[in-house]
Amino acid sequence: MADWISFWNGSHAIYVNDRHKAVHYRAIARDLAGYVPGPQARVLDFGCGEALASAELAGRCGRLVLSDAAPAVRERLSERFADVPSIEVMAPEEVSALPDGSFDLIICNSVAQYLSRDLLAQLVAEWHRLLAPGGRLLIADIIPPHVSALADAAALLKLAAREKFLLSAVVGLARTAVSPYRKLRAELGLTTYEEAEILALLRNAGLDARRVRPNVGHNQQRMAFIGERTA
Ligand SMILES: C[S@@+](CC[C@H](N)C(=O)[O-])C[C@H]1O[C@@H](n2cnc3c(N)ncnc32)[C@H](O)[C@@H]1O
Repeated sequence: MADWISFWNGSHAIYVNDRHKAVHYRAIARDLAGYVPGPQARVLDFGCGEALASAELAGRCGRLVLSDAAPAVRERLSERFADVPSIEVMAPEEVSALPDGSFDLIICNSVAQYLSRDLLAQLVAEWHRLLAPGGRLLIADIIPPHVSALADAAALLKLAAREKFLLSAVVGLARTAVSPYRKLRAELGLTTYEEAEILALLRNAGLDARRVRPNVGHNQQRMAFIGERTA
């Protein structure tokens, strides 16, 4: 059976055009920048995908580890950042092998929906271990159960109208309706969470948790949370 990692590992068209992709990553870069605690910070971007905002993020911290489960994604990132000593690309297993307290900020944006509940709980426990005291986990773009694919489409159209790619967005949405993404979403579903569930998950792992607004990126029906390691 197909799975999400194979989907992300293959070629896919989740952006309606280049402008959409550029607008998406610009918004992410802007939103994430505010969470980097300082120029020496060690940052992990887990499930980083194409990581188009990484150059900007790397410029604001001391070390940036990009990790993604899809080998083809990692290969492209390794090539792209071969000459940037402050950026390292790692498989999730390599991240798991890092010593305690390796990071000051861990970012997990728009990934939780592709993970099982059990895997997210395991990862949050691991991230607690990997955070230095005072370090923070930013887990964002969490989909609440009441936010449907239709609501996601409406959020995209609103963004497209503001950023002047509305026509491409309408065409792109029609294309997405018959795309492998939609087929897989119907088959496997996306994992959704209530606000209280994420807060409990972070607190059970020993993190000091709160919801933060705005969410990272354009879709404000989705949620963002900070989990801080206090000791
Ligand atoms: C929607 S993309 C998000 C990319 C990026 N974080 C962003 O905000 O644009 C989801 C990414 O999560 C990755 N992913 C899915 N399951 C994963 C797992 N178990 N471990 C690590 N990465 C995973 C996928 O390969 C994909 O690149």
